[in-house]
Amino acid sequence: MELSRRTVIAGAAAAGITAATTGGTAHAKGGGPTKSLFGKLADGTKVHRWSLANGGTRMQVLSYGGIVQSLEIPDRRGRYANVSLGFDTIEEYVASSPYFGALIGRYGNRIDKGRFTLDGTTYQLSVNDGENSLHGGAQGFDKRIWDIEPFTHGTDVGLRLHYTSADGEMGYPGTLRTQVTYTLTRHGDWRIDYEATTDKPTVVNLTNHVYFNLAGESSGTVYDHELSIDASRYTPVDAGLIPTGELARVAGTPFDFRRAKTVGRDIRVAHQQLLYGQGLDHNWVLDKGITTRPGHAATLRDPSSGRTMRIATTEPGLQFYSGNFLDGTLVGTGGTVYRQGDGLCLETQHFPDSPNKPGFPSTVLRPGQTYRTTTVHSFSA
Ligand code: BGC
Repeated sequence: MELSRRTVIAGAAAAGITAATTGGTAHAKGGGPTKSLFGKLADGTKVHRWSLANGGTRMQVLSYGGIVQSLEIPDRRGRYANVSLGFDTIEEYVASSPYFGALIGRYGNRIDKGRFTLDGTTYQLSVNDGENSLHGGAQGFDKRIWDIEPFTHGTDVGLRLHYTSADGEMGYPGTLRTQVTYTLTRHGDWRIDYEATTDKPTVVNLTNHVYFNLAGESSGTVYDHELSIDASRYTPVDAGLIPTGELARVAGTPFDFRRAKTVGRDIRVAHQQLLYGQGLDHNWVLDKGITTRPGHAATLRDPSSGRTMRIATTEPGLQFYSGNFLDGTLVGTGGTVYRQGDGLCLETQHFPDSPNKPGFPSTVLRPGQTYRTTTVHSFSA
């Protein structure tokens, strides 16, 4: 049975569950977001952690990388769990994070050989993944300090995050002024609005890299989660995980998530594409295409807890990464080791390597234009 969000919250209140009882962390108990010191970077720069809550969803966000350090939602009996993989300290985020919870920019996923040509000029980007550029290069938006401004607006509670990327940073042309808004609605939805402007023609593709485990981080793999993706095609890749340019049909392949199936069902099928990614690590071409309002992209459900997340987006693509490169070398917030498949990412985006693929929707942003995309995560149990 699917309980409405209101029933879950009422249930949690009746069970005497308060923010203070979970995980020993400080949370906003209604009212506006609150801020505390999380740690310091090696050069002494302070990193703050913002706590906010609304509609039964609780979240903690770092000024470093705009990282979602925790995301707590109730199960069908009102019991909360942190469903986002992360670390307890800033030192671990700086030293070894595989983009846990982070904002990704200027370009989500890979650009072939870190190179592209725009208006006749070839740009060489920071290369940080073999010969390719991944997630904006060596010092992407995930490693920057964001200015954060809290707000409450009507029934919404949220944070506005700002970062200005200098002309030439990581090799990208143009000064990119970026604003990302995290909103928790009264229904407990987490909405992300991305905006950017530039003073020179450039490319941009922003996303967020939360690793979800709806049974709770540190509870084991997500292979029994049920996932559906509204996509009839995906973008196959080469050995370096660069799209070939083809939009291949998912029908009859392990990539067919048009009807919900478990994440683990086909993950061991001997398919060349799964060998390249050591599992699922591909961009799905959403049937709805680019939309002005967020349209449904995917639904993820953990049958054991009932926790369900629906993702709607204005973006045309969804990178589904099944946590393949988590290799048992990191200890997460729950105090356990993260291993392969312990979390998965559903990154709404334009397609990887679009600057080199004329057939893909364009990621070019020009002076005078405003880049605007929205993604909404809705939770129920
Ligand atoms: C990519 C993976 C990459 C991971 C880094 C994902 O978005 O698709 O290939 O290894 O990010 O954690």
